[in-house]
Order: sequence, then structure tokens, then C-alpha cells
Amino acid sequence: MEKLIIKGPTPLKGEVSISGAKNAAVAILPAALLINGECKIENLPNISDVKLYCEILEKLGAKITWNTNNEITINTQNINCDADIIEITRKFRASYYLLGSLLGRCKKATVGVPGGCKLGARPIDLHIKGFEALGATTNVSQGNIYASAKKMKGTSIYLDFASVGATINIMLASVLAEGTTVIDNAAKEPHIVDVANFLNTMGADIRGAGTDMIKIHGVKELHGGSAYSVVPDQIEAGTFMLAAVASRGDIIIKNCIPEHLEPLTAKVVEIGAHVEENGDEVHVWCNKRPGKTVIKTSPYPGFPTDLQPQMGVVLATAEGTSIINEGIWESRFQYTAELNKMGANITDQGKSALFQGVPKLTGAPVCVSDLRAGAALIIAGVSAEGTTEVLNLEHIDRGYENIEEKFRKIGANIQRVAL
Ligand code: UD1
Repeated sequence: MEKLIIKGPTPLKGEVSISGAKNAAVAILPAALLINGECKIENLPNISDVKLYCEILEKLGAKITWNTNNEITINTQNINCDADIIEITRKFRASYYLLGSLLGRCKKATVGVPGGCKLGARPIDLHIKGFEALGATTNVSQGNIYASAKKMKGTSIYLDFASVGATINIMLASVLAEGTTVIDNAAKEPHIVDVANFLNTMGADIRGAGTDMIKIHGVKELHGGSAYSVVPDQIEAGTFMLAAVASRGDIIIKNCIPEHLEPLTAKVVEIGAHVEENGDEVHVWCNKRPGKTVIKTSPYPGFPTDLQPQMGVVLATAEGTSIINEGIWESRFQYTAELNKMGANITDQGKSALFQGVPKLTGAPVCVSDLRAGAALIIAGVSAEGTTEVLNLEHIDRGYENIEEKFRKIGANIQRVAL
């Protein structure tokens, strides 16, 4: 067990380079199971969720070679469709993608009911509805999800909600299906486009990813044989943008796609900070207390729920009273109690929270409840006066590569110590 000790306040200054997107990586890795051959995956973030996924793929018979800390060659020619992966799949949420990819590859899949961040109810009924429309039968019993099909056959599927996971999972299940699958009201997040680009590079025929209608023309085989580089993580980039604002700093965020950050950029500018885009860089600076705003999280291109806690830290010390309405998850305000320990004045009621801005935060011991809350508490610690101790780092390590080194490089006084 470890904790972070952060001494603040530090206006963060300098350059930070963004890693590959966690949420794309944890979908591209299972997507590799659909390939009958070898491929290279570059720009993989070096995080615990990626390592866990590689462990699962190896249990299934994939041969993985780590070329560098961020690049693998994976050969999925020989896959054991009967390998027992139940216990390991319980450890994180994104294991649900194995349902789609194993249904596509093996016509059967058994996974444990996925774990992951506790953000309230996290049903997968839309994934199941999609698999069943494609010809699978599914059954949930004793904490396991069983899916199997004689044949997967393309069809039209309307998603009641533009779910990221369901969109990707149905894509995975239909790439090798017979005929054409149409996903209507599909989610449009950048990592959905990235997974489709990966699959197309390997021989799939997917069109329309990034719009609300995706068409997947089933192909007989994915040949692989190519290299693919994972898209930069827009949530990590957004985290550093908000770190610049909260700490009243000046950061150049390199290796990102500014267009993916537009929903955040609009809000950052609205509250009085400065943003300049230049190719694959975003320069963010803030030299005064930001103003109040109202935020509602919603699917892309709305304000991302995965940047809501980090925005909450900014609003905790903004002028006036701000409101955040959480439009995706039931329990995404667990971090507010921790910020209140640091002197914030936040009242949350279910899916809304009222942020009465205070002039400054002060250091305190705080506990991380989930991945993005963890990032938020690091930003709070850097911006606050005095010493902050951040506990429960395993949540943060799931999704941020070298987080304290990246913060240290832009001036933060942050140490990881054993408990
Ligand atoms: C993904 C991201 C997560 C992000 C979320 C929303 C990954 C690995 N995780 O999660 O970081 O916070 O998108 O941007 O990419 N829902 C249903 N039934 C379903 C599926 C979802 O009701 O079958 C509901 C959920 O309860 C939630 C909403 O739809 O209220 C959004 O979920 P979804 O977009 O599926 O999120 P995830 O894919 O789990």
C-alpha cells in the first residue's frame, strides 16, 4: 500500500506529454482477439488496466511480446476459447469487451460480472440486447455472464442510450458476423472511432464511427499484420488542462488532439482561463480566480463525466456559486466530501452539486473513491496550501501512466511513499 504526499500550493508550469487513451486501449486489446494472426499495438498507456488485459489475453492463448513499455506485438492465431478467465475478469469494468470479442471469435464467452469504479449502478443490458439481436443467447447466473451463439448474423440495433460500452461491444461482436449490422443512436466518443480504425486497419469493414449510425459489414477474417497507434487520451489531457486552471499555472499539453477537448475548452474559456491550440498541443494558463459556471455532463460531444471531478476542484475555488449536474453516473460526487475536508464548500444532492467557491483549499488527508476522483484530489493537493495525503492509489494507477512523475515535471512537490 502506498500514498502520495503533496505539498502546495504550486502554480504548475511547463510541458507535459499525453499517453495513449486508457479507454481505447482496453477495447483495442480484446479487439485483437478477432485477428487470426499478429499485429503491433503502439502508444499503449503503461497502466494496471492494460497489464491486466494482457494477462487475460495470455490466459486465452495470445502470445504477447513487450517491445517497449508502450508497445506490444500480439499473436492471436491460437486462442483457447475454453480458457477459464472468470476470476480475473471480475477485477475491472472493461472486461465486458471480452463478451463481444469472444462471441465474435469463438461464438461463446463466459466472464465474471465486471468490477471497476463504484459510480452507482452500471448495467450492461444494452450490450446484452445487442448480442441477442445478433443471434446470441445470454444468461447471468452465480455472478457470471454466459453468452453463446450458433451463428452471429448482422441486424439493426437501436440503443436506447448512446452507451460507449454497448456501442464498442456490439461492434466487436459483429465484425466477423454474417451480413451487415447497423448500430443506431451509437455513442460518438473519440475512442469509439479509434477502436473502429484499429479494426479496419486489421481488415474489418466499419463505417460511420464517430456519428450516431455505425454500419459494420461482416468480413470472414481479420488478417492483422499491421501496426496501430492508440489515440492520445483526451481525459488525461483534460486533467492537465484543469490542473493548469486550478493551480493558476501555465502548461503546454503535448501530443493531444485539441478537437477532442472542445467541450472542456469552451468551459475553461468561459470561466476566464486562456487556451491556445497549436497543432497537437494545447497551451492553458490562468492567472486569476476563475468565474462560476453551470456544467452538465453528457455523452460526447457533451462535457465528459470523466472530467467532472477535476472540474469540481476548479469550481471549488472559483468566484461565486457553480452547479454541476451529472448526467451519466449516479454516484460521481464522492470526491466532494474529500474536498470539503480541504476547506471547500460543496453540497451534493444525488446527481447535482452546488459549489460555493472559497478563496483557497488547505491540505488534508483524503481518500480516493475512483479513478477520476483520484486525479481530482491530486490537482486539489497541488493547488492547496499545506500538505495533502492521498490514499487508495490503486484507483489512480488503473488509468494514469506515471502520474506523479508527470506532475513533478511541471513543478509539483509530490512523493509516493509506502504506508
Ligand atoms: C465508458 C468509460 C467511462 C465513462 C463512460 C461515460 C470505458 C472503459 N469507460 O464507460 O470511463 O465514464 O463511458 O463516458 O470506456 N447504461 C445502461 N445500460 C447499458 C450500458 C450503459 O443503462 O447496457 C447506462 C449507464 O448506467 C450509464 C450510461 O448508460 O448511466 C453510460 O454508460 P456507458 O456509456 O456504457 O459507460 P461505460 O461504457 O461503462
